[in-house]
Amino acid sequence: MEIKERGNWGSQFGFIAAAAGSAVGLGNIWKFPYITGRYGGAAFVLVYLLFVILVCVPIMNSELLVGRKSGKNALGAFKVLAPKSSWWIVGLMGIIAGFVILSYYSVIAGWATAYIFKSGAYMAAGANPADVFVAFITSPATPIIWHAIFMLMCIGVVSAGIEKGIEKYSKILMPTLVLILLVLIIRSVTLPGSGAGLAFYLKPDFSKLSAEGILAALGQAFFSLSLGMGCMITYGSYLKKDQDIPVNSYWIAGADTGIAFLAGLAIFPAVFAFGLEPGAGPGLTFITVPAVFASMGAIGHLFGILFFFLLTIAALTSAISLLEVVCAYFIDEVKWNRKKAVWIMGIFIFLLGIPSSLGQGVWSSYKFIGGRDFLDSLDFIASNILLPLGGFLLCIFIGWYWGTDKAIEEGNIGAKGAITLGGGYRFLIKYVAPIAIFIVFLKSIGVF
Ligand code: TRP
Repeated sequence: MEIKERGNWGSQFGFIAAAAGSAVGLGNIWKFPYITGRYGGAAFVLVYLLFVILVCVPIMNSELLVGRKSGKNALGAFKVLAPKSSWWIVGLMGIIAGFVILSYYSVIAGWATAYIFKSGAYMAAGANPADVFVAFITSPATPIIWHAIFMLMCIGVVSAGIEKGIEKYSKILMPTLVLILLVLIIRSVTLPGSGAGLAFYLKPDFSKLSAEGILAALGQAFFSLSLGMGCMITYGSYLKKDQDIPVNSYWIAGADTGIAFLAGLAIFPAVFAFGLEPGAGPGLTFITVPAVFASMGAIGHLFGILFFFLLTIAALTSAISLLEVVCAYFIDEVKWNRKKAVWIMGIFIFLLGIPSSLGQGVWSSYKFIGGRDFLDSLDFIASNILLPLGGFLLCIFIGWYWGTDKAIEEGNIGAKGAITLGGGYRFLIKYVAPIAIFIVFLKSIGVF
């Protein structure tokens, strides 16, 4: 199949930077610590790691190879590989998931953007970080304005094309983010009283792990690795035949998991040192990080500004991948031009984000799934249901419809031999991954 005219990734590193840029985002630094806190700490982390290795890495390989083989967007890929079937519905589900996720993702990313400008001043004024945060997100208009600013940045990047800008800067900015994270960790673990936080994060207590927690671990693994909605299919479609899919999958998953782990290491010792509540929810990062930096004096203010700047960039490289999946569909299949697709979808996504923002304040009395606010409910539906379901169906597609022989053949083209797909992959994708997802679903709806 000739896919030349769609363009390719320039280099192996360029691809890894873009795919890791998609994976590393708010999911790692904002969501992973707060979900881990909510569901009990270390035991949750262990289950999360198991899901990454046994379920998500095989699915990462599968999405990438389906993308490269078909050379198409999330929905078009299924039309090419399974013509005259209904498998394209899996792609459609993914596009809807991307639309929903970006709507609230952009609200949180707007908070991060606002904090570039606000956190330093707040810290200097000696204000209580929790009060500051709550006052900010519960106000009706300001967070929506920041949500709009963030969506505009996304629209700007995606409508201009992503390779020359974001990809180039990600290579510098991502390593800088890791460095700042290390500074944060060093300060955090040396705070008096931080030991309890380390224990909470690193010593598993399985009695705290609920069925809902296990489902959340699975959903978080999909969310953090950008899986289950065709994002990696789309990115895989720009891969050349000589690029090594199995090794890339490990790099992306390893980098993503490593950064999430570091974020937890930065947050939890500080949470306990400052007497905050680990299950505090979406505000955790926005409250603890300024608190840690404030404890460092003037230099801390500088680190705070840098931290939220880098978090905004990390969120942007992820958000553009979400918008790209949605728009690639309208460009390829509905034949809209790029500008039209990006602006129309961007505006609708912005509008859907408004109730997520208002749900923090003026609309906070409206509760949905299990007492969650609007933002949390959308996240629950998208991360915990749509993404694992998309992953499950992809396993069935590869393992039982299209065939693992074809998948292994495609996946190993360009593999240099350090890691190749074989019997292990076949077993995981046919049995382990789909059965694990199925059991988690049954358990979380209370079947046993
Ligand atoms: N993985 C990103 C994060 O951790 C978010 C993201 C980008 C995503 N693309 C995705 C989540 C596709 C699910 C599916 O912040």
